[in-house]
Amino acid sequence: MTTSTLPGASLIAELRPEARNAPESGIVEVVNHGRVKPGLIPLWVGEGDLSTPDFIVRAANKSLADGETFYTWQRGIPELREALARYHTALYGQPLSADRFFVTGSGMQSVQIAVRMIAGPGDELVIPTPAWPNFAAAIGVAGAKAVCVPMDLEHGRFTLDLDKLAAAITPKTRALVINSPANPTGWTATKDEMAALLALARKHGIWIIADEIYGRFVYGGAPRAASFHDVMEAEDRVLFVQTFSKNWAMTGWRIGWIEVPAAFGQVVENLIQYSTSGSPVFVQRAAIAALTEGEPFVAEQIARATEGRRIIFEGLKATNRVSLTAPDGAFYQFFSVDGREDSRALAIELVDEANVGLAPGTAFGPGGEKGLRLCFARKSSDLVEAVARLQRALTS
Ligand SMILES: Cc1ncc(COP(=O)(O)O)c(C=O)c1O
Repeated sequence: MTTSTLPGASLIAELRPEARNAPESGIVEVVNHGRVKPGLIPLWVGEGDLSTPDFIVRAANKSLADGETFYTWQRGIPELREALARYHTALYGQPLSADRFFVTGSGMQSVQIAVRMIAGPGDELVIPTPAWPNFAAAIGVAGAKAVCVPMDLEHGRFTLDLDKLAAAITPKTRALVINSPANPTGWTATKDEMAALLALARKHGIWIIADEIYGRFVYGGAPRAASFHDVMEAEDRVLFVQTFSKNWAMTGWRIGWIEVPAAFGQVVENLIQYSTSGSPVFVQRAAIAALTEGEPFVAEQIARATEGRRIIFEGLKATNRVSLTAPDGAFYQFFSVDGREDSRALAIELVDEANVGLAPGTAFGPGGEKGLRLCFARKSSDLVEAVARLQRALTS
């Protein structure tokens, strides 16, 4: 049955346009095409193949067994906010206090709260693209407008032209949305680029929504990617969105955090109150275990992704049919196939002919149309097999 024949179809026009026009995911369309294909290697969504480690699961089980099943602190339980403060203080080498951290129901909810705090109808937010499509969608749902600035692309490497970004800023602009390391391109801002972006935001008195969720996944030998933490002052307009999903293999748990100036506490608490009314305590206990005992697991994940990146980059390059560079960060290889313009059609074809699931670049906004995104956070044997299949399909 199509939507137009379902009961209530004639009433859809009466819904708010922000809700009615929220876009369907371009990735899910391809996933739906291949979801039930036997033997398909799924490299289309942004998650690895490891399930959550036992020490994290045990913490959640214990919490449930202890009867922690009640409403709780809207801002997050104090122990988790303290653990977040310790984690950040160690990672960024500067004191960051617990009153800056608020527990949310996911990175996605953090994005939504950040957008809600600063933008509404008539406002614009500027996003370098290709980008994770949920940024633009969250902005649209809030009634604001996402202004996309396509990044420059040369020999498969994306770079950000600050002048083009600056040219997109108007009196309506409320924020820059900066995702580094980036999904899907792997673009990773240097500290100098971070400083230049911050200077641009300061000059115009606009915000930065900083998504640094892949900051631990970098491949040049550094312990982490450059961060706005490295260049900002306490009074700067920076909102950080974050998640437990990727570092600790917790995509299904739905827990993240938002880091904002401490003075915004009541505002964030209220926005959480009127959306989820807080995150489950047992999930928060699991998150504490992730932060306090999770470093060996994060190191294992980074080592796996480093090997996955090598297998995929070398294997695709060997086809001589693709344009790509190895990503500096995150866990995606973005590439285009010579002579193929329509990545949606190509992604469907590769499901049918190679039995490999990739995300079409069309899902990631202007500048990504010809590309495909491959998630390499997976065991080597799967990636070696996926490369062999892609090599056959692309060179036949
Ligand atoms: C760039 C980026 N930000 C945020 C998220 C949100 O993750 P989650 O909602 O699972 O916490 C994702 C997930 O893919 C992402 O790629």
